Amino acid sequence: MSDRVINFGAGPSALPEEVLTEACKGLLNFQNTGIGIAEISHRSADFDRYIREVEENMRILLRLPQDYKVLFAQGGGTAQFSAVVLNMLARYRSRGGTAEKPAMDYIVTGSWSEKAMKEAKRLGLGDVNVIVNTQTIADDGKKTFNHIPDRDSYKNKFSQDPALIYYCVNETVDGVEFNDDLESPTSFPFDSLPDGAPLVADYSSSFMSRPIPFIDKHAIIYAGAQKNIGPAGLTIIIVRDEWANVSDNSIPLCLSYKALVDSRSLYNTPPVLSIYITGLVLRRMLEIGAENGRPRKKALEYYGERTVKKASKVNAALKEGEARGIFKGKVLEGSGSKMNVVFDIVGGEDKLKEFVSGAEQRGMKGLKGHRSVGGVRVSLYNAVTEDQVDKLIQYMNQFM
Ligand SMILES: Cc1ncc(COP(=O)(O)O)c(C=O)c1O
Repeated sequence: MSDRVINFGAGPSALPEEVLTEACKGLLNFQNTGIGIAEISHRSADFDRYIREVEENMRILLRLPQDYKVLFAQGGGTAQFSAVVLNMLARYRSRGGTAEKPAMDYIVTGSWSEKAMKEAKRLGLGDVNVIVNTQTIADDGKKTFNHIPDRDSYKNKFSQDPALIYYCVNETVDGVEFNDDLESPTSFPFDSLPDGAPLVADYSSSFMSRPIPFIDKHAIIYAGAQKNIGPAGLTIIIVRDEWANVSDNSIPLCLSYKALVDSRSLYNTPPVLSIYITGLVLRRMLEIGAENGRPRKKALEYYGERTVKKASKVNAALKEGEARGIFKGKVLEGSGSKMNVVFDIVGGEDKLKEFVSGAEQRGMKGLKGHRSVGGVRVSLYNAVTEDQVDKLIQYMNQFM
């Protein structure tokens, strides 16, 4: 469709055009039921079949071990900032933990993990222990998160018996990300956690962009759909059985993992349209992964390789711009995100405006950095194609 632009926005973000075309049909007539997806009962057999397929496809793509549940909820990542605290504290009590204010360990590497940590503090139900906080002062005097901590930073810092250990794998605003490779100094210290540690990960902005490393070390992984796989409104929560089974009257039912498990994610009306579109995206991911010579269960590796290629191209152009004094990366070497590449345009606000408006004239939108960070942010979610990235590179070269 010629009037669509290239969308480098950080979320809600680009979706595959083929999926949107298909979704238009489903809005009028969902799976030949004669009823549109936004009109059909979430208790109908047709929708029930559909949501089970979405779950199954997610399991296949992630190669999720059997002892994890996949839950669909509303409320976004922000509701999970509170939900993880309430559910994990309930689990702590149910396994015999006796501390009046149990320890909750937070690793703060950017604006989103900081928000989650502040919510845990605000709730006041546990003793929030900030294991690492990477916030520093940049050259311009502004506070910034520009790196992932070195693996040595965590030594002897985890609490004795925490109710949860929390991290955010990819900081969407700041553009820093844990490395998947355990050999890397900026990887997450999975190997120094005790077995069965109550590990919680915010995967919002990298969910389904590549396989999840050490998936079985996690108690909970959650993500909003609105970056790589669907529209806003749907939150996916992946919970290991022992953490999903806690009934505790202190948890509001709409945040309770057990209530979601018992109702198979249908305790109340789920975000039907978001689930539908996410389902279409997942079907397409399985097909495309398989077209590229892989078994369906390895489709995510295909997306992971594409992600690396796209980010490498942007980073190469950024490096060249740095050498020529035109661009300036905001993130330290080895900590950069493959999903959200964040950098400055040398020369101040006017130059930044020139860059952003030049991109818009060429049909590329969503490049302005988050208001708290400034500069440029290039989001490279799954629906952004390599050709589209090449257009951006061409423009970055022209700008230089
Ligand atoms: C990493 C991360 N966590 C949490 C959130 C909050 O998600 P929501 O706006 O869906 O509540 C976002 C939103 O962009 C995010 O990028």
